[in-house]
Amino acid sequence: MTTALSPAPATAPAPAPAPDVDPGRAPGVGGPSLAAARPDPADLDPRRALRALEHWRADGRDAARFPYRAVLAHYRAVGKNAVGAELLTALRTLRPSVPEGLLADWLPQVVDGAQGDYDSYLGSPVYASLARSGAGTEPVITALLADLVAIEAATLAGAPAGRARTRAALRALTAAAGLPGAGDPATEDGTDELVRACADAVGAARDAVPAGVLRAVELTLTPTTRSHDEQMFIRVIQIFEAVFAAVARSIGAATEAVATGRADRARELLADATRQVAGTSGVFRVLTTMPKDAFAVIRANTDGRSAVQSTAYRTIERTSPELHRTLLRGTLDQAELAPVMGELDTAWGAMKRTHWGVTMKVIGQVRGTGGTAGASYLREAADVRLFPALG
Ligand code: HEM
Repeated sequence: MTTALSPAPATAPAPAPAPDVDPGRAPGVGGPSLAAARPDPADLDPRRALRALEHWRADGRDAARFPYRAVLAHYRAVGKNAVGAELLTALRTLRPSVPEGLLADWLPQVVDGAQGDYDSYLGSPVYASLARSGAGTEPVITALLADLVAIEAATLAGAPAGRARTRAALRALTAAAGLPGAGDPATEDGTDELVRACADAVGAARDAVPAGVLRAVELTLTPTTRSHDEQMFIRVIQIFEAVFAAVARSIGAATEAVATGRADRARELLADATRQVAGTSGVFRVLTTMPKDAFAVIRANTDGRSAVQSTAYRTIERTSPELHRTLLRGTLDQAELAPVMGELDTAWGAMKRTHWGVTMKVIGQVRGTGGTAGASYLREAADVRLFPALG
């Protein structure tokens, strides 16, 4: 304790580092990622990335030729929270002079350090730019699921516990990308068959996704730790966030359609939003394979980065009652839209209750990284309806 007689030390003691996974364990569920377990030794040292940055600077700083690969290889080998001050500073000093575009969108995700929030955790600016460029939600979700399946399948040989998760991810991918083979019994057989089925699905899914989307997905995986499970967690969050953003846009557009008397258009938009929300059930099946102790490591390293900060999620809950008020004020018959609004409300409520259930299973009653009471907060939030006046 500091008193008048014991002056404060000139520098406060550094906070204790949060625990991380043991990179010596077998990679996969409950263990390290492949990048952490089997790194190129040169990637453990920041000097490769620093040298690549130096060359890039000397070479004219062309954003299109930024050495993403060298920087990401180091980040993934050691975990973002273990990246040293020298590389962080080198990346931070770039920010003010980088022109608008992918690099400017991407940098916040790698320079956020202890000030990181939910948006910098998942790479929101990159996905917001993709949406503005008209990339569409389906290709983004397909690319994220394809990457998730690839990550899981790559560790299957060493971690048989990963089979359940890999199967769940493969089912989610085949369903989202409209590929044959969802629930195909072949994937229930041995590990080799499952790995082959994953490779086929990932290849087919990626073939249908524009290169710009694949690139964005590839760059936006910067886990704070060396945990394999954190890679899955980030992909799952990014998928949900893409869904939230799409639903928020649909509700906004449906409100406009209602205001201008276009019931068919509003119905179509709300049905699409319902489909997107209902589609998250397969992604929850992947998330529930999260081991408790693996999530404890992720939690300890992501304090202050909670989805409670999600702008798109808040927009949905804030704008839905406005949609209903617009309907009540306008000329359309309420009965024309009530069923589809009710379906969206039901799907949204089911999603929130599933999230609450997963939270109970994985962390129990402890506080959230966003500072709420945790499960009890979520239990109450699950009862908040999108259209409370619907009856
Ligand atoms: C094991 C996985 C997860 C656990 C244990 C968990 C836990 C929590 C907790 C405790 C909260 C309360 C806010 C806080 O204090 O942080 C919360 C909020 C929230 N979480 Fe999760 N979460 C998990 C996965 C996810 C995923 C994958 C998403 C997808 C984006 C997500 C979306 C949300 C949202 C939108 C909120 C705000 C809810 C509201 O305010 O109504 N969570 N989560």
